[in-house]
Amino acid sequence: MQGPSLSRQEFGDLQRLIYGEAGIYLSEAKQALMAGRLGRRVRALGLPSYADYCQLARRDAQERQRLLEAICTHETRFFREPRQFELLEKVIVPEWRRLAAGGQRSRHVRVWSAACSSGEEPFSLAMVLLDHLPAAHGWAVEVLATDLSTRVLAQAREARWPVARAAEIPATYLRRYMLRGTRSQEGFMRAGPALRDAVRFASLNLHDDTYGVGRFDLVLCRNVLIYFDRAAKAHVLTRLASHLEPGGHLFLGHAETLSASDAGLRLVAPTVYRRAA
Ligand SMILES: C[S@@+](CC[C@H](N)C(=O)[O-])C[C@H]1O[C@@H](n2cnc3c(N)ncnc32)[C@H](O)[C@@H]1O
Repeated sequence: MQGPSLSRQEFGDLQRLIYGEAGIYLSEAKQALMAGRLGRRVRALGLPSYADYCQLARRDAQERQRLLEAICTHETRFFREPRQFELLEKVIVPEWRRLAAGGQRSRHVRVWSAACSSGEEPFSLAMVLLDHLPAAHGWAVEVLATDLSTRVLAQAREARWPVARAAEIPATYLRRYMLRGTRSQEGFMRAGPALRDAVRFASLNLHDDTYGVGRFDLVLCRNVLIYFDRAAKAHVLTRLASHLEPGGHLFLGHAETLSASDAGLRLVAPTVYRRAA
């Protein structure tokens, strides 16, 4: 079915709405992508034009949510950017252990996956942390997983993936923390109870003015800053940095960088930043 076409003016209106709502900046080059991603929704609603759709999205919060979901990419993987996980296992966690042994920090570790998509990132973190910081030694691990999209959060909460995705997980963690489905769950794997208990989910827009999530030893904000323009990115990073404990680490995605002056953080490894102790 042929739907309405997206004019430059309509694209501009939707572009501003999306930027105002989530800090996501779509350049003119994204006009065809927007038409492709929203066309089906506009047709399904039987709307005569994208201008009508824009009006609907302005007055209806749920529709705005759908709009943002349609525009964002949610691609993710377990243990994506393995060098960061290696740094966590080999450098960061041992330092936490040393400090705790010397009475210089608590055994309560808080970590935040700030654009968690369908959950692969927070569950990868939880596997590493539970394995290296056992409750039997007095450690308590808390992983907060947030995203703007309630659709991907629902998937993440279910903690269930096709078993083919097991190839992304190191064998030891897979054996210890994932359950292989049988009968009706054949072909799927699910995070085991210890892992599910460690991860808490919430919907959170990084573009909001306050987050109210407390302080963290480690924050992952990966492969989401690419959507923001310079101003939105600086705004988000300053707030994220204020949620780091002194000495806390921030991991960004492989194509994302901070300028040296941003938010009082310094680069300690490629794409890894640290707040002064
Ligand atoms: C490409 S995924 C990245 C997932 C994961 N961090 C990774 O690196 O594999 C980007 C995610 O950012 C989320 N997102 C986009 N804008 C956001 C915002 N303003 N606040 C919170 N999440 C946002 C999207 O919903 C999407 O799930």
